[in-house]
Amino acid sequence: LKRLAFALGFALAGTSTFSAEAPSPNLHNLMKNVIAVQAQVIWDIGNRAQDDHGDVDPKKLTAADWAKMSAAADKVKQAAQSLASAAHVAAAAAGQKLQDEGNPGAFGAADVQKVLDAQPKVLNAMAQALVNSMDQIQGAIARRDGRKVGSVSGDLDEVCEACHKVFWYPNQK
Ligand code: HEC
Repeated sequence: LKRLAFALGFALAGTSTFSAEAPSPNLHNLMKNVIAVQAQVIWDIGNRAQDDHGDVDPKKLTAADWAKMSAAADKVKQAAQSLASAAHVAAAAAGQKLQDEGNPGAFGAADVQKVLDAQPKVLNAMAQALVNSMDQIQGAIARRDGRKVGSVSGDLDEVCEACHKVFWYPNQK
């Protein structure tokens, strides 16, 4: 009981300063090391199991495939969740360069940071959309619903793209 009271007190004392002190998630690392890699796992497994209509045929997926897809969705969800709930997000770590940074017209980390800081709630909402997609795909995986897995993973690149257009290449027509 004493320990619980301590934990509670600690949690409560922490709340007022938590958002200011919580380390800002590094968006670039989350994209490069988690979200892009794990979304690709979902796409690859889904593509391999496509039928003639473009639906995912559950008969072409092994238990291991389903498990891999589910684990990947979980990792994407966790990364997206950290972006969805952050008061402040770092575009990249100091010295990190973005893909295409330095090319004419391409955004660098400092440019992305400006847009992030101007619209933190938009970033939260767009990251939440990715969380929601992952919840949908997990539900479909649990039901072994190949058609739904196919449609959610087929729409996934639009969820990615929508956010990239706002924060990464807003000047691109
Ligand atoms: C909530 C906004 C948001 C969502 C959703 C999002 N991204 Fe990103 N992503 C960004 C921003 C902003 C950048 C550019 C800045 C950076 O790299 O730090 C980026 C960069 C990237 C990069 C470049 C990383 C590199 O190597 O330089 C890849 C790849 C990427 N995203 C893949 C994805 C994929 C795949 C999805 C969907 C499954 C996705 N992103 C969803 C915001 C988002």
